[in-house]
Amino acid sequence: MEEKNMITLTIDKHEVTVPAGTMLLDAAKTVGISIPTLCHINLEGTCVQNMPASCRICVVEIEGRRNLAPACATRVTPGMVVHTNSARVIRARKTVAELMLSDHPNDCLTCPKCSDCELQRLVMRFNIRQMPYNGGEQSERKQELTPAITRNMEKCVYCRRCESVCNNVQSVGVLSAIRRGFNTTIAPTFDKMFTDTNCTYCGQCVAVCPTGALTEHDYTNQLMDDLTNPDKVVVAQPAPAVRFALGEEFGMQPGTIVTGKLATALRDLGFDYAFDTDFAADLTIMEEGTEILQRLNKFLAGDKDVKLPIMTSCCPAWVNFYEHEFPDLLDYPSSAKSPAQMFGAIAKTYWAEKMGIPREKLVVVSIMPCLAKKYEAGREEFKVDGNPDVDYSISTRELGRLIKRANIDFVNLPDSDFDSPLGESTGAGVIFGITGGVMEAALRTVAVSRASRRLLSTSTALS
Ligand code: SF4
Ligand code: SF4
Ligand code: SF4
Ligand code: FES
Repeated sequence: MEEKNMITLTIDKHEVTVPAGTMLLDAAKTVGISIPTLCHINLEGTCVQNMPASCRICVVEIEGRRNLAPACATRVTPGMVVHTNSARVIRARKTVAELMLSDHPNDCLTCPKCSDCELQRLVMRFNIRQMPYNGGEQSERKQELTPAITRNMEKCVYCRRCESVCNNVQSVGVLSAIRRGFNTTIAPTFDKMFTDTNCTYCGQCVAVCPTGALTEHDYTNQLMDDLTNPDKVVVAQPAPAVRFALGEEFGMQPGTIVTGKLATALRDLGFDYAFDTDFAADLTIMEEGTEILQRLNKFLAGDKDVKLPIMTSCCPAWVNFYEHEFPDLLDYPSSAKSPAQMFGAIAKTYWAEKMGIPREKLVVVSIMPCLAKKYEAGREEFKVDGNPDVDYSISTRELGRLIKRANIDFVNLPDSDFDSPLGESTGAGVIFGITGGVMEAALRTVAVSRASRRLLSTSTALS
């Protein structure tokens, strides 16, 4: 007997029983049937789904219904009989993809998304070898190069994933659909440039975009020029998270720790010094920990104006969000710079002076897990006479591409240590690489400090 709230249906001759409310797409997955999708995405780690049902790539045939139905937006009903691979379905999906290509630049060879593009994968899956609808409307759409993100809206397929993540997960609300028909585009209000909006450069829209419409600003060619320039001293500072993520680019298990191989690869690429942002992560927790203690001391001394709670300021996207959305509360987050910027400042002052390297000859490159660090490096307050503390930032993906381009056999590289002294760190710096690690490191440091013991005894005495 069918359990209450459970629905039994047939998908491609499989009897499937799923909870009421399940979408056909998910019901099919329970019996290993993968229906192709484009606009649909589950934003993992959140309860948000992008489900505009706008692309129609996922259509299926349901017996008794005249029209094909989108599997991502059609709920199961009792006794439903569904065909996900009938000739009609297969032809319809191919035609939908061909129509998408009619308004697409199709310059895969030079596209930053080439070989990692969902549209390209669909074209392969549907065996599209000709463009029957080519030559149609080619509306001109915005292209923009920000320090962090590249937009080429001619490659947009209007899946609206970027809009969902920006509005419903990041709560920044920069993106929405504007205009109609062929002139539709997904953009900030009045089709403004990202640089004229509250965009935090968090990069989440780039992470979910299935095509080359939104990609990271790539600095690898600039880095190659610097690495081969004999007049430059190029210093690398990889973030704590990079050593946990880079291995994945080379087929290793996600989360494999590749610290030693990373240091070796940086030297093999031609970096003059392989340092470590963990060094500055240690500085950050000392700065932030000291600030916590100072504010708590003031609070216990009866200072009513002290700003509590204190929030970490390591993430430039978060700082940007705070500046745009809560300009009247700017005294609450810690005043400490991010570890990447602390590292840059130390490298270009203390270390450069010790080594006798002129500031303009030194190139500090951060290797970071997020795109906002690219934007942060260009902020005016982090420059001295126009020369930035961090020259530019590349992502873990860009580093992976560079290593591949240089024919380095990463998996079999021997381990080596980072260079001294800016490559030394404690375990507290290392745990910055995991969620919650920054605050845990700061609080652990505060908890063991002598000042905190004094503070605790004062607060016990007061209570
Ligand atoms: S977005 Fe995809 S399909 Fe379009 S040009 Fe780039 S790789 Fe090719
Ligand atoms: S980078 Fe972040 S804030 Fe900016 S548009 Fe994308 S999701 Fe929104
Ligand atoms: S920019 Fe990318 S994520 Fe946004 S609607 Fe276009 S294709 Fe989809
Ligand atoms: S994936 Fe279902 S309509 Fe786009």
